[in-house]
Amino acid sequence: MQALFTLCTAVVFSCIFEISQAQCNGTSCNGSVQVTTTTTSISVPNCNLSIEGSTNQSSVLTDLTPGEVFTVQAHCFNCCLNATTKPESVLNLTVTDVTTSSLSLNWTKPQGRSSIYSVQWTDGGHSKEETVTETFRVISNLTPGVEYNITVTAVAGDGETKGSGVSISQFTKPESVLNLTVTDVTTSSLSLNWTKPQGRSSIYSVQWTDGGDSKEETETVKQKEVV
Ligand SMILES: *[C@@H]1O[C@H](CO)[C@@H](O)[C@H](O)[C@H]1NC(C)=O
Ligand SMILES: *[C@@H]1O[C@H](CO)[C@@H](O)[C@H](O)[C@H]1NC(C)=O
Ligand SMILES: *[C@@H]1O[C@H](CO)[C@@H](O)[C@H](O)[C@H]1NC(C)=O
Ligand SMILES: *[C@@H]1O[C@H](CO)[C@@H](O)[C@H](O)[C@H]1NC(C)=O
Ligand SMILES: *[C@@H]1O[C@H](CO)[C@@H](O)[C@H](O)[C@H]1NC(C)=O
Ligand SMILES: *[C@@H]1O[C@H](CO)[C@@H](O)[C@H](O)[C@H]1NC(C)=O
Ligand SMILES: *[C@@H]1O[C@H](CO)[C@@H](O)[C@H](O)[C@H]1NC(C)=O
Ligand SMILES: *[C@@H]1O[C@H](CO)[C@@H](O)[C@H](O)[C@H]1NC(C)=O
Ligand SMILES: *[C@@H]1O[C@H](CO)[C@@H](O)[C@H](O)[C@H]1NC(C)=O
Ligand SMILES: *[C@@H]1O[C@H](CO)[C@@H](O)[C@H](O)[C@H]1NC(C)=O
Repeated sequence: MQALFTLCTAVVFSCIFEISQAQCNGTSCNGSVQVTTTTTSISVPNCNLSIEGSTNQSSVLTDLTPGEVFTVQAHCFNCCLNATTKPESVLNLTVTDVTTSSLSLNWTKPQGRSSIYSVQWTDGGHSKEETVTETFRVISNLTPGVEYNITVTAVAGDGETKGSGVSISQFTKPESVLNLTVTDVTTSSLSLNWTKPQGRSSIYSVQWTDGGDSKEETETVKQKEVV
C-alpha cells in the first residue's frame, strides 16, 4: 500500500515536473498547421500565437531575431510547434584569390543567428554544394579558364532553414599556352604557332617588343603573323 502510494506520488510529481518543464503547454502540432516565416516574423493564418514565456498573442509574431528557433503555442489548435525565422543573407561576399583550379571566398556573418553556410557553385552544367562553419572557403578541383557562379546561403540555428543566397561570378585563370614556336621568318614578319592549353580559353593575347616599343593584340586563332 505504502509502495503503491509512493509510486503514485512519483508519477504525479513527474507529471507536474514535465508540465512545468514543458516550453509550451499543449501537445506537438501536426503537419496540418501551416506556418509562414520571414526573417523576423512567424504567422499562422487565423490563429493566435504566443512565444513561450510571453502572454502576448497575435496571429503574426513580429520583430523576431532572424535565424532563431522559437517554441510557439498555436492557441486555436491548442498545440505547440517549433518555428525558425529565416536567416539574413551573408554580407560582403568576396573572391579573395584566383588560381587555375581554385577560387577563395570570404564573407561576413549576417545579423541574427546562423549556424552554418551552404556554399554552392556551378559552371552552368554541374553543380556542387558544401556546408562550412567558417566564413571563408577555398573551392578547388576547378577547370582552368571557366566561369563559376558561386552562391553562399546562411543556414539558421536549426541547421536546416535557409535564407536567400548571395551570388558572385568568377573565372578561374586559364593555363599557359603550350608549344609556342616560330614557324616562319621573313625580313619583316615572324609567324608564331602555339597549342591551346587544357581547360577553356577563348582568346589569346599576343605581346611583342623590340626592347623599346611594346605592342599587344588579341587573337581568337592559335597562330599569328607579327609584321
Ligand atoms: C495553457 O496555458 C494558458 C496560459 O498559461 C492557459 O490559459 C491554458 O488554459 C493552458 N492550456 C492547457 C491545455 O493547459
Ligand atoms: C491534426 O490536428 C488537427 C487538430 O489539432 C486534427 O483535426 C487533424 O485531424 C490532425 N491531422 C492529422 C493528420 O493528424
Ligand atoms: C508584449 O507586448 C507588449 C506591447 O506590444 C511589449 O511591450 C512587450 O515587450 C511584449 N512582451 C513580450 C514578452 O514579447
Ligand atoms: C487573438 O489575439 C488578439 C490580440 O491579442 C485578441 O484581441 C483576440 O481576442 C485573440 N483571438 C482569440 C481567438 O483568442
Ligand atoms: C522543439 O525542438 C526541441 C529541440 O529540438 C524538441 O525537444 C521539442 O520537442 C520540439 N518541440 C516541438 C513542439 O516540436
Ligand atoms: C559589408 O557590407 C555592409 C553592408 O553591405 C557594409 O556596411 C560594410 O561596410 C561592409 N564591410 C566591409 C568590410 O566591406
Ligand atoms: C576577406 O579577405 C580579405 C583579404 O584577406 C580581407 O581584406 C577582407 O576584409 C575579408 N572580408 C571579409 C568579409 O571577411
Ligand atoms: C551566372 O549567373 C549569371 C546571372 O545570373 C548568368 O547570366 C550566367 O550565365 C551564370 N553563369 C554560369 C556559369 O552559371
Ligand atoms: C606540346 O607540349 C607538351 C608539353 O609541354 C608536350 O607533351 C607535347 O608533346 C607538345 N606537343 C607538340 C605537338 O609539340
Ligand atoms: C603548328 O603546330 C602544330 C603542332 O604543334 C602543327 O601540327 C601545325 O602544323 C603547326 N602549324 C604551322 C602553320 O606550322
